[in-house]
Amino acid sequence: MKKLLFKPAVDLSVDFAGIKLKNPVLTASGTFGYGEEFAEFVDLNKLGGVIVKGISLKAIKGNPPPRIWETPSGMLNAIGLENPGVDVFLSEKLPYLRKFDTAVIVNVFGYSLEEYVGVVERLGGVPGISGLEVNISCPNVKQGGIVFGTDLKAAFELLSALRKATKLPLIAKLSPNVTDITEFALAARDAGCDGLSLINTLLGMAIDVRCRRPRLANCTGGLSGPAIRPVAVRMVWQAAKAVALPIIGMGGIVTGEDALEFILAGASAVAIGTSNFVNPRATLDVLAGMEQVMLEQGAGDIKGLVGKVNVG
Ligand SMILES: Cc1cc2nc3c(=O)[nH]c(=O)nc-3n(C[C@H](O)[C@H](O)[C@H](O)COP(=O)(O)O)c2cc1C
Repeated sequence: MKKLLFKPAVDLSVDFAGIKLKNPVLTASGTFGYGEEFAEFVDLNKLGGVIVKGISLKAIKGNPPPRIWETPSGMLNAIGLENPGVDVFLSEKLPYLRKFDTAVIVNVFGYSLEEYVGVVERLGGVPGISGLEVNISCPNVKQGGIVFGTDLKAAFELLSALRKATKLPLIAKLSPNVTDITEFALAARDAGCDGLSLINTLLGMAIDVRCRRPRLANCTGGLSGPAIRPVAVRMVWQAAKAVALPIIGMGGIVTGEDALEFILAGASAVAIGTSNFVNPRATLDVLAGMEQVMLEQGAGDIKGLVGKVNVG
């Protein structure tokens, strides 16, 4: 191994629930494909980690178009969780990602508790997977479509079952479409999760007034982008005060300063989502921006900034 001639000015490394990240910048699920789609713009080795597009037990075609609609400072999407299914992910997507020196976190989901357990079990013991992020914002079709992530009992039961089904670090991705995010953070902790990820998209709707039809074929969709950032920062702050679990903060991060807002609110790592569609190098720009602000501030270690917002 080559000897380092100089020490980096700021230490950005993070241990997230046992997952070693060289820096806290990750990709938000569903906005960076499986890494390969962005590899011509971004050296994946430079990222703390890649959180891949949500994976289910069987392939899913997703919703009919239109599936996205641009909104002021954001976008609505109703992709419908299109993905090739866990077997194709393992045979065709993961081998590519594994070649890089970056953590691979697999985002998983299902439409019943059994489907979630099935996909999680399938990923157990597979080399090259650092952790699992569970998207709990899905309806349980076996229980009248009740959304796991907005029903405390359903969320707790799901995450408890997944805890039993895997030894991998388990990160619960919380839905913001709830009145009190702290209740869900506590439920995830009590179920045995190792970390939290927040926020997922906020439920929204847009209407074309001329033809009087919803802009999305699905009628409603998930709102993301800078428009949701203050909501996301607030929820990260509340969740971080409620539980001691490490948090991946996301929602509208465009710059290094935006990312540091989440860190000060209590996140240990951040994920970049919608920005990737505007600027495919957004992840690296955020990383450089964080480093620059830290240098300006004389902050030598990112870990020392976690939760350090001064509310006094
Ligand atoms: C097009 C699109 C697809 C997404 N797909 C997923 C997904 O498969 N699983 C998931 O947990 N979150 C998904 N998300 C939510 C993002 O990972 C993220 O939580 C959210 O967009 C907020 O971050 P942002 O404002 O930086 O985009 C998706 C978001 C977008 C915009």
